Amino acid sequence: MAKDTNASDAKILREPAEVQYRHQLEALKQQDKDTPPSAWKLSPRAVLTYITGTAKPIKATIDGKAVEVPITRKFFGDDTIVERAIVTLASERALLLVGEPGTGKSWLSEHLAAGISGCSTLTIQGTAGTTEDQIKYSWNVARVIAEGPKTENMIPSPTMIAMKTGALLRFEEITRCVPDVQDALVSILSDKNIVVPELPDANMVFARPGFNIIATANSRDQGVNELSAALKRRFNYVHIPIVSDQKTEIAIVRDRSKELLERYKIPAKIEDSVLTVLATVFREMRAGTTADGVSFQKVSTTLSTAEAIGVALDSAIYSRFFSTGAVGVEDVARQLVGSVVKEDLDDLKVLKEYLSVVAKKRGAKDASWKAFHDAAMKAVTSAS
Ligand SMILES: Nc1ncnc2c1ncn2[C@@H]1O[C@H](COP(=O)(O)OP(=O)(O)O)[C@@H](O)[C@H]1O
Ligand SMILES: [Mg+2]
Repeated sequence: MAKDTNASDAKILREPAEVQYRHQLEALKQQDKDTPPSAWKLSPRAVLTYITGTAKPIKATIDGKAVEVPITRKFFGDDTIVERAIVTLASERALLLVGEPGTGKSWLSEHLAAGISGCSTLTIQGTAGTTEDQIKYSWNVARVIAEGPKTENMIPSPTMIAMKTGALLRFEEITRCVPDVQDALVSILSDKNIVVPELPDANMVFARPGFNIIATANSRDQGVNELSAALKRRFNYVHIPIVSDQKTEIAIVRDRSKELLERYKIPAKIEDSVLTVLATVFREMRAGTTADGVSFQKVSTTLSTAEAIGVALDSAIYSRFFSTGAVGVEDVARQLVGSVVKEDLDDLKVLKEYLSVVAKKRGAKDASWKAFHDAAMKAVTSAS
């Protein structure tokens, strides 16, 4: 079987998706039965398969050898979300992925760009300090002073490179940018060009077919700089929900932490029983109720799936270096406290309440819940 590179044998800590999963992308390309839209590397159906995975490996020829390549699932959740995202990117409109932090928006955006353009690195990270130059272009000032403004003295932005090559631009956290800067995108999205008034001859850069934008925004800070009406009209919104189904959440945490642990060369395996306790605690604390109808206060921190992956990973690293190497519920309990108590110290009280109302009761019947309760209580007491 052709395995994709795992960063553990690569020289780079985190390879972009198109490098890490290149065998999967190549296999899908060889098997692609549909015609991709202009400048797309894969057809929409193959992009969907790349993101949602296949049950069985697919046949391909990699480096001259006939192999079977497993296509792993990248994004877990409702597949129609991914379909809608792909359809939008094939249209005139740009795509905005909106949702709570840690729901996999950036992750989905990276894989969409890798599958469609074969390049996920043309990225702008939106911040309060993002300038119009970073979206359009800037100049090599020393050379402009010496030679005047010429095309060669221009420093193109990721947007300009994406336009020239007919690729996808990723715009992360777009609502963190101030409105003036966001407005620079209006003309790019409607006219599909950038005007360069400093260049007398070649003063327009046109976008090639294939160019489009995938932006992400956190619904938590939508209010910071909400998109202007003009920009809203040019985006299709796709809402990414928090995973509501426990099985799916366990699968995400299992898959992602396994991959990340391999990257850090940590040979720990987290048992499903431990993951189940972790996922249950996250779900219940998020909702403020349990499956058997006990209610308590909700925490103010977002307890996202990404946060659960973080806890799983930290528990495994802790257990590898300071404990037995077998990740137990005690390790999870210890790391959980830091995750829950982030924005607000009052959350510590909520966690305490949860532990005494829910975890303790379960502990009377179930040894893992007892171990979880005891270790978490100890950690909470020393944190408060
Ligand atoms: N539905 C999901 N499917 C796959 N991975 C997910 C999902 N939700 C969260 N993750 C994982 O959580 C981590 C953080 O996600 P990220 O894309 O950075 O979140 P966001 O951009 O929404 O804040 C990633 O490693 C990603 O793999
Ligand atoms: Mg993100």
